[in-house]
Amino acid sequence: MIEHVAEPGWVEAERYLTDVVVRPDPAHERALSSAVAAGMPPIEVAPNAGKLLKMLVQLSGARRVLEIGTLAGFSSIWMAQGLPDDGWLVTCEYLQKHADVARANVDAAGVGHKVEIRVGAALDTLPALASGEPFDFVFIDADKENDVNYLDWAIRLGHPGTVIVMDNVVWDGAILEPERDETNAPGIIRALDMLGQDPRLESTVIQTVGSKGWDGFAIARVR
Ligand code: SAH
Ligand code: DHB
Ligand code: MG
Repeated sequence: MIEHVAEPGWVEAERYLTDVVVRPDPAHERALSSAVAAGMPPIEVAPNAGKLLKMLVQLSGARRVLEIGTLAGFSSIWMAQGLPDDGWLVTCEYLQKHADVARANVDAAGVGHKVEIRVGAALDTLPALASGEPFDFVFIDADKENDVNYLDWAIRLGHPGTVIVMDNVVWDGAILEPERDETNAPGIIRALDMLGQDPRLESTVIQTVGSKGWDGFAIARVR
């Protein structure tokens, strides 16, 4: 495993920007403290990234969102807040305990009526979604060794114009030294190659620093 190291200045600047510009609401704070109380790892997106997800959902006009990797529902709350009231977010989570915490958090945030949590390994729960309506927006944020598989599912479950966001694409720079992390970094590298080369996708990537260390996210559009 690699460590995500954050420099103090990055954390301070992020806190300042979060307080002044991002302005999370109490539902976001509740989700964070419930995750700490439940002993879950602090690996949710940073608040500025959560708000970006919300705004990308709004800007793309998405009505159906798919998330892979729920944790405590922090990113789910942000994205559900960007959906219209009759929008729908399906989020896939391996661990029942995480799903239970997330259920309470999305309900407390007042967006529970838009959120369905599917428990199990995502590669087992995704195929059933193929018989439903396609997704307009997909956020990939689970086990990195399956990032290529999740990209493929996102394309299959999407349509031309579907927006895909993939978290953790720099991984403390381990994409340059994959031997530092035997499972995650090689998975991320395969996904980056697919983002750049798959003819079904048009992609870019943004490098970030902040409370979550040195990382980044990719944004792709299904052609
Ligand atoms: N998107 C969340 C953070 C997700 S952390 C947020 O920003 O708030 C990654 C989550 O993916 C963890 O809860 C982990 O249990 C889950 N996960 C790991 N492997 C998985 C798999 N194969 N299928 C579904 N979920 C998985
Ligand atoms: C980890 C997973 C994430 O999705 C993330 O944003 C940061 C860290 C992890 O598994 O360590
Ligand atoms: Mg992540």
